[in-house]
Amino acid sequence: MKKYAIVIHGGAVTMDPSELSPETEAAQREGLQQALQAGWEILHQGGSALDAVEAAVRVLEDDEHFNAGRGSSLNLQGEVQMDASIMDGSNLKAGAVDTVRYVKNPISLARTIMEKCPHVYLSADGALEFALQHGLEIEAVHYFETEKTRQEWLEIVQEQEKVPQKDTVGAVALDQDGNLAAATSTGGIEGQLKGRVGDSPVLGGGTYAANESCAVSCTGDGEVIMRGALAHEIYALVKYKGLSAPEACREALELRAEDLKGDKGFIAIDKDGNVALETNCNVMRRGYRIGEEEPFVAIWTDEAAD
Ligand code: GLY
Repeated sequence: MKKYAIVIHGGAVTMDPSELSPETEAAQREGLQQALQAGWEILHQGGSALDAVEAAVRVLEDDEHFNAGRGSSLNLQGEVQMDASIMDGSNLKAGAVDTVRYVKNPISLARTIMEKCPHVYLSADGALEFALQHGLEIEAVHYFETEKTRQEWLEIVQEQEKVPQKDTVGAVALDQDGNLAAATSTGGIEGQLKGRVGDSPVLGGGTYAANESCAVSCTGDGEVIMRGALAHEIYALVKYKGLSAPEACREALELRAEDLKGDKGFIAIDKDGNVALETNCNVMRRGYRIGEEEPFVAIWTDEAAD
């Protein structure tokens, strides 16, 4: 059996440990386990990296404890607007969507755009129309909002001291045929301006995959990650400098450090199956499983095994 592996993240952020309740932390660990298992089973049975990353991200989108799909942050106007992208490293095909509403799984919309649309990237109402035409699952506004996201939005608009959340979810995988894929999905930054788009749907920004190099999904400050084109930077460091995925992610974290200050987190897997989970934050919800080895899931950066 050839090497196969999946890596996932549920967002990287710098936060005071007191801000994460034991209940939320336990729920996030459970969500990461389930997402990892959903993607891993596909790879284990010989399925594609593309199917695996979509399946893993769908689990995280359906889990209200992560900022994507249900549980997405609310923008300044108190609305959900979601971004996602997916990329197939075997052929460089990709699909992306931004500021979409009502679509239960934006990552599946991104994949449908990749497979059924002459364009790569659809936005807002156009993306929703395309989703309706192609039978994507639709949910009412109240499905996406939770008590927590509404409360956090209130704190932002009441200008209480609060660091806005900007988590993301993502997955990268290598399948038994040697194909790589990457997927990223987010509700963006809490209290962001209506129409603001982060790095997650931007190919080369928050997501990139190419079989000859690696697959990457980013999390953190979208503006910084986009300006550094950091997913593509990691791809290029592996391809042209011959670095492994962990080496490339560590180098990308330091790229133009003065100009690109902010929270950053990267997951990546290279063509040789080296997995990377790198961040400059104290929290990165993350996990990986390589072949039939035991899965690893962690929240705090100082947890062992990376
Ligand atoms: N990294 C997610 C965002 O900035 O929207």
